[in-house]
Amino acid sequence: MEKIKDQISIIQKAFKEELRQVQTADHLEQIRIIYLGRQGNVAELMGTLKQLTIDEKRVVGPLLNKLKKALTQSYERKLNTLEKADSKKTTFDLSAYKPNQLHGSLHIFTLITEQLQTIFSTMGYTIIDGPEVETDYYNFSSLNIPEDHPARDAHDTFWLSNPGYLLRTHTSSAQAHAMEKTKPPLAIFSPGRVYRNEATDASHDFMFMQGEGLFIDKNVSISNLMATAQDFLQAFFEKKDLKIRVRPGYFPFVEPGLEIDGSCPFCKKGCSVCKKTGWIELLGAGLVHPNVLKCNKIDPNVYSGFAFGFGFERLAMIKYGINDIRLFRSDNLQFLKQF
Ligand code: DAH
Repeated sequence: MEKIKDQISIIQKAFKEELRQVQTADHLEQIRIIYLGRQGNVAELMGTLKQLTIDEKRVVGPLLNKLKKALTQSYERKLNTLEKADSKKTTFDLSAYKPNQLHGSLHIFTLITEQLQTIFSTMGYTIIDGPEVETDYYNFSSLNIPEDHPARDAHDTFWLSNPGYLLRTHTSSAQAHAMEKTKPPLAIFSPGRVYRNEATDASHDFMFMQGEGLFIDKNVSISNLMATAQDFLQAFFEKKDLKIRVRPGYFPFVEPGLEIDGSCPFCKKGCSVCKKTGWIELLGAGLVHPNVLKCNKIDPNVYSGFAFGFGFERLAMIKYGINDIRLFRSDNLQFLKQF
């Protein structure tokens, strides 16, 4: 009987010590099986009761029951603590993501930027980047938009607290940077993000992508601009028979200023995309204003040039039938996975 009593206290101590070292639910389960399982230490000890006299059983029986109860309670307490600690951790179930099922893909902006860069570099244009935080000079004054010019109102500008600094409202701001760095002849295409401080809806966002093209040489005419615009739009929409037409438009940095429409890539007679007209407005463009050339120390009597600009989202929405500009910068995987 004394031997069993000794064993009870040994088991009690050993269990306590083992429990102290347990860190995981799996480990705890192993310990439970060893001590409290059907063939565990406690059960084994209970089996030895048979060998005792009735009087001895009366003493040892309750001691064994007490042991079992104590171990069970400590086990449950430990299990509880482990579960609580576990729920506090952010765990990732790596097995939930099966390789080959979830492919990452390039964002549509990246794809379109690459596609446009390829088109323009194939035509001999240099791709240049420009700062998104700009000065009043590059975004406005150098583009023949002096202070108090009403055209500034059309650009709802995010002014920075640093006076004279702003988030560029168009990639036309790349023009003066390009003319400062390179003497004509020059041909640049500059893609990037632009910002407008205006309300967001299905066709307006406060941040969007634009591309600006600038070509300056001797004897540049509107025919050069039209040929370039048509080649570019045919390549972008992958439509060899896409035609263009021009209408007058006003932009202070070009004279004459033009709106360039493309024939609808989807229909011949008129559909919902072209609003039954057969034409879609695609680019702003024109011949570089002499004031812009002069401002950049280029003699307008010797050189002329054309410039054009457009929004990536608008072109992509038409090409891929996207009906809400906000999708581009959303985390909607169903949308993003298509590209
Ligand atoms: N910067 C104009 C805009 O954001 C787009 C534009 C129009 C660019 C005419 C040009 C141009 O180069 O010639 O609305």
